[in-house]
Formats: sequence, structure tokens, C-alpha cells
Amino acid sequence: MFAIIGGTGLTSLNTLEIVHRQVVRTPYGDPSGPLTLGRIAGRDIAFLARHGYGHTYAPHRINYRANLWALQHVGVREVISVASVGGIQARYAPGTLVIPHQIIDYTWGRVSTFFEGEEDPVTHIDFTLPFTPALRQRLIRAAQRAGEPVIDGAVYACTQGPRLETAAEIDRLERDGANVVGMTAMPEAALARELGLAYAAINVVANYAAGRGPDAGEISFAEIEATLADTMARVKRILESFADVGR
Ligand code: HPA
Repeated sequence: MFAIIGGTGLTSLNTLEIVHRQVVRTPYGDPSGPLTLGRIAGRDIAFLARHGYGHTYAPHRINYRANLWALQHVGVREVISVASVGGIQARYAPGTLVIPHQIIDYTWGRVSTFFEGEEDPVTHIDFTLPFTPALRQRLIRAAQRAGEPVIDGAVYACTQGPRLETAAEIDRLERDGANVVGMTAMPEAALARELGLAYAAINVVANYAAGRGPDAGEISFAEIEATLADTMARVKRILESFADVGR
């Protein structure tokens, strides 16, 4: 079964035929909310709103471990993350959909491993390719079939938030090689890998990153909301196409 973790702008899926909601307790505390179990295009899926159904968890407060553990517990093997980002270069303009291939982690103080108990052996996962290549390719094909253009590949900079970045911070991220900036891919991607779950993401560019774009003065939250509202319809079509083929 595959799961969708929905970010800002995607707290529900109207194409999802809901079978039931399930509260899962985990050894790591509570997930962001009950899991929604249902079907898209006839295929079983699990859905979880990353920030909670009422958007109450800021990126640094999300219990990423509980979320992923709960999904695995109900039988999920593949996770598709939907997450909004800021675009750093002009190519990543608002409204663009991106399937990232790399991550740079700038977060701090987040619980970022399942292997931290004194009795756990020290465990290092391979994380050379943080997004599962085969799952990325299936997403890209699903987008093509749905007729929705996506950019294949981007370096995702994960910042701590919840504030947006300064213009100088974005300049630094660009020097580091980043293309888009968001706040939730880490530790989510690494924890998925620790559990052996395949993980890939659809990033929705909601805004130009700080100091970028034609109106580089400041970021408009009203525009972010409008862009997300328009673009999520396209994300849903890609997800439907993904579900349809995987049957
Ligand atoms: N920065 C960080 N995270 C984000 C942004 C941004 O500009 N837009 C959406 N998520």
C-alpha cells in the first residue's frame, strides 16, 4: 500500500473514497492525526495531513517518527510526500511542480533517528540518494500520463522555520547548490529510509524564495495561498494517475 503525506494546501483528497479513519498509537507518541484509509482509482491508500487536519503543527513540532511508524504499522511500503516550497531560481516559478532528487539539511534540534536508545546498536543508513529512484521515476511517469508538466530533479534545502528565510540565507542556499527551499523533508526522508520505506516527493512551488522573483521585496501569504489552491488540483491528478497504474 502507498501513503500520501499531505502538506500545506493538501489536508484532504476529494478523489479519495474514504473507508475509515484509524487512530494509531506509536512508541514515539501521537502522529499528526488519525490516518485516513481509503481508495483512489480503486487502489488502497493511506493519507495523513502532515501539519494536522487543522494545520496546528509547525514544521519543527511535527512528530515525524510517529507519522512514519504509524504508516508502516498499517501496511504502507511507499510514501509520497506532497510539500510546498519556495523557488530559488527563475525556473522554479510559483505554480511549478518539482520532483526533487537531493536534499541539504539545515534543520537543527529535530529528533531525526529511530536508533537513539542506549540499547540500540549504532546504525548508519545509506542516504546517498535520499529519494527512492524507482519511486521518483514512477511519479514522473504518472505526471506524464496525466499531462501535467513536472521538473525532474531539484536540490531541496530543508530549513528549520517556521519563519521564512532572509534574502542572504537564500543566496547562501543557492551557493550551496539548492533549487527549492522547504521545511519538512528532513527528518522525514531519513526516517522513511531507516524504516525501509520507499520515499519520493512532489514539491509545489508556492512562492519565489526570499529576495527572488519580480517582486523581491517580501513574500505575500495571500499569493502563496492562491498558488497552492490552483496547483493542488494538478497534484491530485498526478496522484490519481499514480494510483491508477500501480493497481
Ligand atoms: N521557504 C521555506 N519553506 C517554504 C517556502 C519558503 O519560501 N515556501 C513554502 N515553504
